[in-house]
Order: sequence, then C-alpha cells, then structure tokens
Amino acid sequence: MWWMMNEGGGHYCSKKTDDICGDVCGQESSQALSMSRIRCILRGIDFKIFLFLFALVPTCVFVIYVHGQKISYFLRPLWESPPKPFHDIPHYYGENVSMEILCKLHGWGIREYPRRVYDAVLFSNELDILTIRWQELHPYVNQFVLLESNSTFTGLPKPLVFAGHRDQFKFVESRLTYGNIGGRFKKGENPFVEEAIQRVALDQLLKIAGISDDDLLIMSDVDEIPSRHTINLLRWCDDIPQVLHLQLKNYLYSFEFLVDNNSWRASVHRYQTGKTRYAHYRQTDDILADAGWHCSFCFRRISEFIFKIKAYSHFDRVRFSHFLNPKRLQRVICEGADLFDMLPEEYTFKEIIGKMGPIPHSYSAVHLPSFLLENADKYKFLLPGNCLRKSE
Ligand SMILES: *[C@@H]1O[C@H](CO)[C@@H](O)[C@H](O)[C@H]1NC(C)=O
Ligand SMILES: *[C@@H]1O[C@H](CO)[C@@H](O)[C@H](O)[C@H]1NC(C)=O
Ligand SMILES: *[C@@H]1O[C@H](CO)[C@@H](O)[C@H](O)[C@H]1NC(C)=O
Repeated sequence: MWWMMNEGGGHYCSKKTDDICGDVCGQESSQALSMSRIRCILRGIDFKIFLFLFALVPTCVFVIYVHGQKISYFLRPLWESPPKPFHDIPHYYGENVSMEILCKLHGWGIREYPRRVYDAVLFSNELDILTIRWQELHPYVNQFVLLESNSTFTGLPKPLVFAGHRDQFKFVESRLTYGNIGGRFKKGENPFVEEAIQRVALDQLLKIAGISDDDLLIMSDVDEIPSRHTINLLRWCDDIPQVLHLQLKNYLYSFEFLVDNNSWRASVHRYQTGKTRYAHYRQTDDILADAGWHCSFCFRRISEFIFKIKAYSHFDRVRFSHFLNPKRLQRVICEGADLFDMLPEEYTFKEIIGKMGPIPHSYSAVHLPSFLLENADKYKFLLPGNCLRKSE
C-alpha cells in the first residue's frame, strides 16, 4: 500500500509541480526519505486517494471479519500439524464367509458365544437416521440406550423429541433403556460443558441398563452408523482390542455426497466397570477400516436443518442469519456445498485444495444400510438424485 502511494506521489510531483518540489523529487540519491520529500509526496497525493483509503480500510476490516475464519482455516497447515496417524486394521468381510474364517483373517480367535452388545446414543432430533441406525443394528444389539435432554448443547430449550415419537420404535421397545435429563440453560457457556454433562448421564444410564465387563459398547453419535456385519464380527471374535475406533464413510446431506472415507470418532469398547467412560474423542490408535457410514445433516425437512444449525456445538459458525434462509439451504443441499460457506477442516494444503468447492455427486447406492433400500420410498431423500427437501 505504502509503496503505491509513494510511487504515485513521486510521479505526480515530478510532472506537475514547480519550485519547492521540483528539485527534491527528481533526486533519488539524496537521503531517501527526507522531511521535504515526504511533504512533497503528501502534497502530491490526490484527495481521491484519501477517500479511497477511507473506503478501503473499513472494507478490509469487514472482509477480514467475515472471512477471518476462512483465512485461518486456509492457513491451518502452517500453525497446526496433523494428529498422529491411526494404526489401520484391515477389515475383511464377504457375504457368505464363515465367522471362523473372518475372525482368523483379522488374527483373532472365535468365541463359543457372542458378547452382549450395547448401543448408546445422545439423541437430539434425528428421528429418520435413528430409525435407519437401529434397524441396521438390531439383529446384534442386546440393549439400546438412549438419552435425550430438553436443552441443546448450546442451551436452547428443545422438546423431548424421542419421547414424543416413541411409538415409532416398537421394534426395539423390549430392549430399550430410555432416559431424559433437564438442561441447565446457562447463557453464554461453552456448549462442550452441557455435552460433557449429558455424556456423564449416559454412563449412569448404561449402568441402569445392566452393562457388565466385556460387553461390547458402541459409542457414537446417532448419525455414525456401524454396519451390522462389523458389530457381528466384533461380538464373535476373541482378542479384539479393548478400544477400537471405527472408520466410517463420511456423507453429507444424504448418501449422494461422499465427502471422504475418514470419519473416525465412533468407537467400540469392551466394557470395563469403573474404567470405561462414554466419550466422543480420540481414545486409541487402532481403527478398523470401512466399518460403516457417517451421514451428517441427513434430514428430511429444511426445518430440521435450521434446528440442527442452531443447536450445533460449534455455534460460533452461525454468525449470519442468511445461513438459515430456507432457499439458500435448499440450494446448498442440492449442490453439495458447505452449509457455513467454510473451507474444509484439513491439515495439509493438498487436502484443503482437493476438497474445496462442492462435493462430487455419487451415484452408488451399493453397500448402504439394507433397511434404507428395503424402504426406499419412505427414505428417498437419503438416496442419490433426491436432494429436494420438504420445506416445512
Ligand atoms: C451361503 O451359506 C449357506 C450356509 O452357510 C449355504 O447354504 C449357501 O449355499 C451359501 N450360499 C452361497 C451363495 O454360497
Ligand atoms: C427441563 O427439564 C427439567 C427436568 O425435567 C425441568 O425441571 C425444566 O422445567 C425443563 N425445562 C424446560 C425449558 O423445558
Ligand atoms: C472411498 O472408498 C471407496 C472404496 O470403498 C472409493 O471407491 C472412493 O473413491 C473413496 N472415496 C474417497 C472420497 O476417498
């Protein structure tokens, strides 16, 4: 900036001015920025340039304010190094291959009888994806444990959505442990606190549900769905790791938009009384490849998107009400673009640049939860080519 002014000023001066300036401006050799030269330059600067600066500075500030997060995300590889890579455990599965062979391929033995399996989730409002999840897992899960709160993590009141729709889940009723918890509605508190409190309550609920040592416990968000054959493998094989992350395929809005194959937060634990705590962060280095699906923002209605955006833990992203404009949301969903106009959260420039722009469409509906395909008419919005959402 200063350079431009300097040059412009000098030029103007040498052409148009006379006496005082004339001899000073032309000389490059004398003390470069003597007082008289500066005065000369300032005199030379047009009023228009001042005006330009007055407009430019606030514009710059505004652009940095609006895109500050984007800029910092783009520069992330400079200030943050990637986390330690996981130890990938290859995953073997074929439709008619015996469990004995499958366990052996993983280097594990086979048990005489399967472990009991607990699936525990914190529920917000994702009724459709909960149905797909429980239908996928129900052949192999002994107890479904669900906790909901009348507060979002961000401290907004919410109805007990599951309680209001419990009759839709008769297929698990005999194996369901349901609990609810009252929010504390603390204004301005970090949403991670409310989330942590709900996870502690979920630990209590698991005890009430009768979990005991060496039972298999699935810890994941509702929309992180392990495939049923994965859970069947882990309940039948001996010597599996005490804690194991599950690598899931990452989808956005529906199974039409495959973001990457690297969702890792879901985990499976061999329960240890007094030791196992319900968590959703990295807990070990081992991760089992290709173990299911993570479908973020996979909602039927625009109103559910709006609710979820408001209730999102990372609420700082929701700074502008235009994010919640239904027309914009519908456009973003059909394009596979980002709900928050953000850059991908990655650790290398290669990955950031590779993932910039909309997610490519996927036309594969192979290896999806079977309940989804068997009930495609009811869950069409999750399948490729059906991006239009109900507007209410
Ligand atoms: C699959 O296994 C079952 C029993 O284990 C067997 O009866 C059936 O023929 C097998 N199907 C195929 C296609 O191999
Ligand atoms: C939330 O639930 C608690 C406990 O059940 C109750 O005392 C409180 O009034 C509820 N708050 C709202 C806003 O529904
Ligand atoms: C994810 O894995 C599948 C194979 O399971 C592969 O075809 C696909 O290209 C991968 N997608 C991405 C985005 O890496």
